[in-house]
Amino acid sequence: MKIIRTENYLEMSVTAGRLLAEKIRSNPSMTLGLATGSTPKGLYEYLIQDHRDNGTSYQQIQSVNLDEYVGLPAQDPNSYHYFMWKNLFDHIDIAGESTHIPNGAAEDLEQECTRYDQLIKEIGGVDLQILGIGQNGHIGFNEPGTPFSSRTHIVTLAENTREANSRFFNSMEEVPKHAITMGITSILESKEIFLLASGEQKAEALSKLLNGEISEAFPASALKQHQNVTIIADKNALKYI
Ligand code: F6R
Repeated sequence: MKIIRTENYLEMSVTAGRLLAEKIRSNPSMTLGLATGSTPKGLYEYLIQDHRDNGTSYQQIQSVNLDEYVGLPAQDPNSYHYFMWKNLFDHIDIAGESTHIPNGAAEDLEQECTRYDQLIKEIGGVDLQILGIGQNGHIGFNEPGTPFSSRTHIVTLAENTREANSRFFNSMEEVPKHAITMGITSILESKEIFLLASGEQKAEALSKLLNGEISEAFPASALKQHQNVTIIADKNALKYI
């Protein structure tokens, strides 16, 4: 795994943004795998600014998001649909029908998982996947113990993940207990992966990822089996490396 160490969150975001915008310009019909959460927000801000300043176009881009909460409709401000439109899609020229996010409000969730896997296959797989990392090593919402063989599936969120994400909700009770997520195999099938991390709260997870063994108890360790992963992280997140 290649590591790019940056000074701080802003430099992490700009570094990832420059690399990504360059890739989009050289392959304007690529499929992007996207993440939500605090980590990629600065990257998305960079892409929006770059779209305005340099005209990088997303008209032929397809996007596939990693995950969505179960039970939250797209218009719920805490849904990942809402997050993606607010923080990226509304500000670039991507076609709405080219953006794909699992439907956490689907009546038949098992069928939704199958549909999502099929869709990823039909659009030819993910060219570049953006990932954040949970303090417990989750990627997407693949919590510790998830089989590496998993594709899109329904998960019960770990209590520490619900706690970490409760900052966006009015109360702990409002934080959904389940989510739909691309699986570890789905993630490993993307041609290239950027893992972003910032801040001391991610330092232990990065240390386990880089120094620990490959184990389903630590989902991100599966990334060691992939040939093209770049970690872009600030010095606080890399403080044990
Ligand atoms: C979000 C996702 C999660 C986050 C992780 C880190 O789509 O897949 O794995 O990347 O929970 O979240 P933040 O960036 O908020 O620290």
